Amino acid sequence: MALFSSATQRVPEIAHVPKHIAVIMDGNGRWARKRFLPRIAGHKKGVETVRELVKQCVLLKVDYLTLFAFSSENWRRPTEEVTFLMSLFMEALKREVVKLHQNNIKLLMIGDRSRFDANLIAQIEASEQLTANNTGLVLTIAANYGGRWDILQAMNKMQQDVPQLTGFYREDHLTPYLSMAYAPEPDLFIRTGGEKRISNFLLWQLAYTELYFTDTLWPDFNEAAFSAAIQSYQQRERRFGRTSEQIKASSA
Ligand code: IPE
Ligand code: IPE
Ligand code: MG
Repeated sequence: MALFSSATQRVPEIAHVPKHIAVIMDGNGRWARKRFLPRIAGHKKGVETVRELVKQCVLLKVDYLTLFAFSSENWRRPTEEVTFLMSLFMEALKREVVKLHQNNIKLLMIGDRSRFDANLIAQIEASEQLTANNTGLVLTIAANYGGRWDILQAMNKMQQDVPQLTGFYREDHLTPYLSMAYAPEPDLFIRTGGEKRISNFLLWQLAYTELYFTDTLWPDFNEAAFSAAIQSYQQRERRFGRTSEQIKASSA
């Protein structure tokens, strides 16, 4: 497994186009409500936005796109909505996976899948297997994912694997067990829908990520809105603890 360096341990290479973009796709319910439609209509429309964003990322040559589809706290929603989201996830996987495969996209799912029904688990596994050797965009769907769950499952796996380590842990003991160990830490985080919070998304991995919040609701997040996020990213000075003067001196 390829391991990437951690932004808190070493200054990573900074690229003009973010290598890894992580997105909280929020605002589907409000999009629907504004149109006097049921919330689920917003989720359905949101799938189209996903399709468009994947295309944009391929064009831009982004290496990793990670989408928060369902949080570990989203089970608290009304049962009908949860059931609808699960079936939408299933349908979208079934319908899109061949297209993703044809476009050399590698699909992965992070999160605790044990709570999903057997058919959905099988569909996820089949989709991951089909696209496993693809070398293009790595598309990760976070479903029943929580940042705290991720850190704890990594701790537990680490302790099982290397029980002799008890007592003193370093970052690099733990990070290989995090569920996104196959990817560099996100360069850019985007949250649509106006809320300014992380909602238990990639807590560990977002340590030095550039954060971008927009009021645009997820179903309205089109190419122009995405491009505004990229432009904002490109204007940031990523210091990783250093001073602005140091950055200017090193790039001169
Ligand atoms: C995000 O949209 C999709 C999921 C959480 C599954 P929301 O459903 O949270 O939409 P709002 O925030 O209610 O508008
Ligand atoms: C975060 O959205 C999770 C996803 C987009 C899947 P929520 O809409 O559930 O977030 P909170 O609960 O308002 O923070
Ligand atoms: Mg929301």
